[in-house]
Amino acid sequence: MTDEAFPSESGSPELDTMMLIIKSFLEHLEYTLGKDKYSATRHDIFNALAYAVRDRMVERWLDTQQAYYNEDPKRIYYVSMEFLMGKTLENSLVNLGLLAEFREAMNSLGYDLDEFIEREQDAGLGNGGLGRLAACFLDSMATMGVPGYGYGIRYEYGIFRQNIIDGSQVEIPDNWLRYRNPWEMDRQEHLHPVKFYGRVVERKDTEGNTLFDWIDTEDVMAMAYDTPIPGYGTNTVNTMRLWTAKSTREFDLSFFNEGNYIRAVEKKMLTENISKVLYPADNVPEGKELRFKQEYFLACATVHDVIYRFHKQHEDLRRLPEKAAIQLNDTHPALCIPEMMRVLIDHHRLDWETAWNITTRTFAYTNHTILPEALEKWPVWFFEHILPRHIQIIYEINDRFLTAVRTRFPGDTGKLERMSLIEEHWERKVRMANLAVVGSHSVNGVAALHTEIIKEHVFKDFFEMYPERFNNKTNGITQRRWLKCANPDQARLIGDTIGNGWTTDLYKLTQLRPLVDDPAFMAQWQQVKRTNKDKLAEYILKHNCIQVNADSLFDCQVKRIHEYKRQLLNVLHVITLYNRIKANPDGDFVPRTIIFSGKAAPAYAIAKLIIRLINAVGDVINNDSQVGDRLKVVFLANYSVSLAEKIFPAADLSEQISTAGTEASGTGNMKFALNGALTIGTLDGANIEIMEEVGRDNIFIFGMNADEVEDLRRRGYNPRDYYSRNPELKKVLDMIAEGYFFPANRDLFRPIVDSLLNQGDHYMLLADYASYVACQEEVSRLYLDREQWARKAILNCAGMGKFSSDRTIAEYAREIWDVEPFEVHPVLEYRQHDVIPD
Ligand code: IMP
Repeated sequence: MTDEAFPSESGSPELDTMMLIIKSFLEHLEYTLGKDKYSATRHDIFNALAYAVRDRMVERWLDTQQAYYNEDPKRIYYVSMEFLMGKTLENSLVNLGLLAEFREAMNSLGYDLDEFIEREQDAGLGNGGLGRLAACFLDSMATMGVPGYGYGIRYEYGIFRQNIIDGSQVEIPDNWLRYRNPWEMDRQEHLHPVKFYGRVVERKDTEGNTLFDWIDTEDVMAMAYDTPIPGYGTNTVNTMRLWTAKSTREFDLSFFNEGNYIRAVEKKMLTENISKVLYPADNVPEGKELRFKQEYFLACATVHDVIYRFHKQHEDLRRLPEKAAIQLNDTHPALCIPEMMRVLIDHHRLDWETAWNITTRTFAYTNHTILPEALEKWPVWFFEHILPRHIQIIYEINDRFLTAVRTRFPGDTGKLERMSLIEEHWERKVRMANLAVVGSHSVNGVAALHTEIIKEHVFKDFFEMYPERFNNKTNGITQRRWLKCANPDQARLIGDTIGNGWTTDLYKLTQLRPLVDDPAFMAQWQQVKRTNKDKLAEYILKHNCIQVNADSLFDCQVKRIHEYKRQLLNVLHVITLYNRIKANPDGDFVPRTIIFSGKAAPAYAIAKLIIRLINAVGDVINNDSQVGDRLKVVFLANYSVSLAEKIFPAADLSEQISTAGTEASGTGNMKFALNGALTIGTLDGANIEIMEEVGRDNIFIFGMNADEVEDLRRRGYNPRDYYSRNPELKKVLDMIAEGYFFPANRDLFRPIVDSLLNQGDHYMLLADYASYVACQEEVSRLYLDREQWARKAILNCAGMGKFSSDRTIAEYAREIWDVEPFEVHPVLEYRQHDVIPD
């Protein structure tokens, strides 16, 4: 904030910075918020502080955006229905390099910065991995100088807050904007109309060309809110633009004429519902009309903006792919493809071939799931009713595409049926994944195994047709948030030992490898982990009233609750440990604290019952005096980015135990390992690549691999074989089925046991149980040797270089987007006059 261009006022640049921060904070408190010492609440203090931080970003933000216009690099649009940003204050200060300065400034005013860092509401505009990935990517793009934009929806209610009441999940609306969001700036002038419903009429122009008019529509306005995204240690500040729905100015005159003012206004209010609430389902699409409208709302406003920005500097839309790349985060924004075609053809009067060439060269699609039930399909009648022009365009894309398939694979009707964009069952549906693949030049999976699976299974036919489109981009995480902010003690220890290069080059962590032989480093490493565990133990005591032993093995499974992620397999192991202690009360057991956290989709009954079971098992075990602190089970309510930031640094063991071939990548696995936890996992998703990086000896792998799972399914899997052959497993399942953990309603958990024994155990928990339990025994044995454990933990951290989202973004930039890093040079002269329009 001070440099050679500005002579220091006090003679000390540090003092100038402090004075500037204090002045900015006090001015915001007084002039922006209109508060004084009598009226300022803690929220006001937070907001004034946040505004003071935002001020520090704005100059760089404007410089960056102007540089994008002046130099005209290719821009990257990351379009996502979810951005799980979490808190912003600390991360912004870290990226701006002003954490210490702000801490000191607040101190001098008698405030503790940490209180306000903690107080901030999470921006929870996402469900899980996919939304957090989008947030990590924004951080990496800004840090690496990629001219990137995040485009999404500004939901008024983000992911629900989870309360646990009598052991059950209860959902509470997340009114995150209640105390204002100081990071965003509303852009009233960026207001685009989004049409719904109506009908399409054809007409001829003077040259005899057919034109299509979409008329009698009901319109909603999309209004932009911009949030600055500062890179770490650079001048680049990118933009996240989120759309909010506003009603149009017109009232329904028919109601007015009838004198029904309230009805006229009511209808306007209803249109604003589009951006009200995030759908809280992860890996299970909600086939609801409102969600469909949300997806189109995002697609329409974003495509409009991309073209508007392009047109500020260029005429010829055929150059769009040189200047813009649009990355679709899953199929949720795939309506961008027919929307782009509609705009190019109906508004800009391009011919079909030209429009299609521009579209396919601009779009790229990331697949995030292989669960068949999670692939989005929208009923054709939704389109006919809500987006009548788009269904015409989709049919035309499909006709042309199927002609190409017929030419390439003559006589293969099975292929035509499978590859069609339309599923011709009793209810005809548009297959959004097929649309995304056909309309993009790149299709990527998010871990090596996942990409192989989509090539060989999910998109096999498409891979045969367009092999060059398919590629892998293994997910990553930003080390700025997930180590530097989340685990400051470990970050400091690493920095003091090998320097801070790892903050922008995570491969530098390999320099930790030789330190496993350095007893002083090892001792400090263990001390950091212990301090983090003490802090989490305090949190557990405060929130769950459970006293845990910080010396016990912290065994953590934190992620969405889903059958394929197999929290239930973990529970089977917990009950096995319990039974072993009960059978041998004086035995030597390695003490464990099993920590679960995660939300279930509100309509996902069996997932909610699993939460109920975890809490019921916890109640029995935690209150059994014979068990003592050798085993505790904790369910931490309301898993979120900020809670994750408390759990990862304190974890000893990371549970990544999905059925092989079901988890696309996972990113929690990377966050744990970076924070020095060892992984127990299956050969699934990115676990495989983690194993390759840290070495087979430093990870606990169990269970079937993806081929074995497939093979067993083909041969015919009978879970009862495993049940009857394994007495420990049988006992565990019988206890759950007979109501041991909930005597007040002994049948409560029967559906869970039924799903395993009588409904086929789709995710094959019983087949992997024995191997999992044996592997956990190995874990316990190793934990007895704390030095060996710490060695492996250090080697895990040291092997995490590959899993920085900087590496992932560099690959997207090089291999999909064809974009170079772009350096923003600070404008050294203060240029207030530049703000005044000419
Ligand atoms: P947007 O691209 O329209 O969202 O504009 C974002 C920012 O880019 C503006 O706030 C300006 O700082 C900058 N900007 C917009 N138009 C121009 C231009 O024509 N020249 C230089 N900078 C511009």
